[in-house]
Amino acid sequence: MKNRRIGAVEVSAIGLGGMPMSVEGRPDDDNRSIRTIHAALDAGVTLIDTADSYHVHADEVGHNESLIARALAGYGGDTSDVLVATKGGMFRPGDGTWGEDGRPEQIRAACEASLKRLGVESIGLYQHHRPDLSVPYADSIGAVRDLLDEGKIQMAGISNANPEQIRQAQEILGGRLVSVQNQFSPAFRSSEPELMLCDELGIAFLPWAPLGGSAQAAQLGSRFQPFADVAASRGVSPQQICLAWHLAQSPVVIPIPGARRPESILDSVAATALTLDDDELAALTFG
Ligand SMILES: NC(=O)c1ccc[n+]([C@@H]2O[C@H](COP(=O)([O-])OP(=O)(O)OC[C@H]3O[C@@H](n4cnc5c(N)ncnc54)[C@H](OP(=O)(O)O)[C@@H]3O)[C@@H](O)[C@H]2O)c1
Repeated sequence: MKNRRIGAVEVSAIGLGGMPMSVEGRPDDDNRSIRTIHAALDAGVTLIDTADSYHVHADEVGHNESLIARALAGYGGDTSDVLVATKGGMFRPGDGTWGEDGRPEQIRAACEASLKRLGVESIGLYQHHRPDLSVPYADSIGAVRDLLDEGKIQMAGISNANPEQIRQAQEILGGRLVSVQNQFSPAFRSSEPELMLCDELGIAFLPWAPLGGSAQAAQLGSRFQPFADVAASRGVSPQQICLAWHLAQSPVVIPIPGARRPESILDSVAATALTLDDDELAALTFG
């Protein structure tokens, strides 16, 4: 498995996104999700992305964090090099919607609860989930800085941020911003300015919904013909080509494809062994 860097920490170049295991459409049986996480670990994945808001019902906040903690605890091998990246700053009231709560006191409370669920003294990577327009961004990121200063989190990241917010967070965190997680995929390329800025600043860029999201991932090849064409010529899946295309954007890019089945993540990690040539990249980018 090839590695990339988040701050000073080396992680697998492809991570595992935990969201589909805990939101609408999740498996009926958590055991399948646990098998999926174990398959990822077996394949050398050392980055798992989650959030306290990855759940369905209002009374099961942190469903995905608890699932990951259980999977790690029940894994036969060494998990000491696995970075669990969680997020705080959003909530789900249980009616299918999502909301933001970026009040500093809420971010602190959310982090404390995530620490308990993950069963750790300090969270490896804590990401502010999404700007809350009713709270000054500086206040939300200031709360994350305080958690970092106190050692409750080891590294700080942000998500769904624009270039101005990335620079602002970097300043508030005193140069300690290590990651930005924004939507980016063949269907959604408008986070390119943020990706370029992360490349310039040497900050990890974690594309979310890198395959277009759970509802669209299976149709990637039929929606984007160049991905199907390169996949056919290589004898691999369009999803693998898509992840190799992500990796080729910049050395700071670390895709976090979601999975509910072991087969999906195993196919995805194989993308780290693919190097696309210039003609293939041009076809995927401009085709
Ligand atoms: N920061 C944010 O605001 C935000 C928002 C959304 C998501 N995220 C994070 O980003 C992660 C990724 O996004 P996502 O899960 O929404 O979308 P995604 O990664 O684009 O798509 C996930 C779906 O792709 C399928 N899949 C994965 N690898 C595949 C392969 N090699 N071949 C065929 N199908 C494959 C999976 O199917 P199966 O389920 O059948 O295995 C899964 O349901 C999330 O899990 C979450 O951690 C963050």
